[in-house]
Amino acid sequence: MQNLELAQNKLKQYEQENILATLNSLKGKEQEELINQILKIDFQEISELYKNLKVKEENAKCEIAPIESIDKERITDSELKELEEIGLNIIKQNKYAVITLAGGQGTRLKWDGPKGTYKLANGKYIFQILAEKFKAFENKYGTYPYWYIMTSHQNNQATVDFFEEQNYFNLDKNKIKFFKQDELPTLTPDGKMILEDNKIKTASNGNGAIYAALIKEKIIDDMKAKGVEWLYISGVDNIMVNFIDPIFLGLTLKNNMQIASKSVAKAYPEEKVGVFCKKNGKPGIVEYIELTEEMRNDTNKNGELIYGDANIVSHLLNINVIEKITKQKMQYHLEIKKGLYKFEAFVFDGFKAMDNMLVMRVKRENEFAPIKNFEGVDSPKTALEIYEKHLQF
Ligand code: UD1
Repeated sequence: MQNLELAQNKLKQYEQENILATLNSLKGKEQEELINQILKIDFQEISELYKNLKVKEENAKCEIAPIESIDKERITDSELKELEEIGLNIIKQNKYAVITLAGGQGTRLKWDGPKGTYKLANGKYIFQILAEKFKAFENKYGTYPYWYIMTSHQNNQATVDFFEEQNYFNLDKNKIKFFKQDELPTLTPDGKMILEDNKIKTASNGNGAIYAALIKEKIIDDMKAKGVEWLYISGVDNIMVNFIDPIFLGLTLKNNMQIASKSVAKAYPEEKVGVFCKKNGKPGIVEYIELTEEMRNDTNKNGELIYGDANIVSHLLNINVIEKITKQKMQYHLEIKKGLYKFEAFVFDGFKAMDNMLVMRVKRENEFAPIKNFEGVDSPKTALEIYEKHLQF
């Protein structure tokens, strides 16, 4: 069967008549490109996702329970020293890598380019601030970890070009690697795909795409060949992120854990942060869009939020758990953006592959200054204020 016919059949089977009409009207290269895209898309998966828009209900069915966290502020100085030694030993042997999740669209920031290329009022780009953290570590210890940056189909080229232009901020180009995450078509509320410039409109499928991407793009193989054992996964948009953290690694090892995350005390019930918990006995996070009123507001007898450990997207994973996670079926969450349905997988949903994880609570001002919105809370202005007041190298 000809490719055109295969594509037409797929569209008919999955009731995407609009796309079919356009496909038939196109000619030459344009038609060929659309055919190729159609043949690559997993229509069955999309149709199942659309039919199963029930994540909220699934969460409701889950047995949710609080999870303990260890407050870093309560660890004694002598223990901190001991933990630091343990972690440093691993990092100095280059068994540690930093992964920056930079495949998001950054719509809320109203910035067209990759989020990391946003320039703050102090004249520094977000990526530059991140790069300086590697430099600072190098100044102290003479080496620094590998840096992997997850991009999207949309922003990969712009991200790589930016690093080239900036001469990799004087870091060793060979220690930096970019890899692309996957994407999925967006749908109208009645389940139809839409066209943009004669192509099916797609969007990044959430930061949970990291697991499949690590395997598909052979990043895991690259890491293993380099002897990497620990991965610190964090978002591009937190300029206070402390991603080369020997103490955190030391604590994780000492507690015999393979997954660990940092939290901060949630500032107020409506804050747009996911919270750590156990779901059906497994460690995880409930994202802010899916929190029930109860989970948002419940307090203990001291008046503290029961689900008060907020996710700051700072996760530490042993490389061995990645394959374990990819063997599970990834859950997708529905996001409605500009009237379109978008399916997103979340990085922390992978944690249920383990029975337990460590949560280390850190002081907010030391490690959390997110840049999400153009103005108001979590904006470049508020983040920079925290950065200028609290950054210590
Ligand atoms: C995220 C967390 C939330 C946390 C909050 C703190 C997730 C799913 N949610 O929410 O629990 O409390 O940060 O600031 O982690 N990204 C990709 N690919 C994608 C989508 C996102 O790489 O397809 C990256 C973004 O570039 C960003 C990070 O993941 O670095 C966070 O993504 P975003 O969608 O902005 O999450 P938030 O809603 O801010």
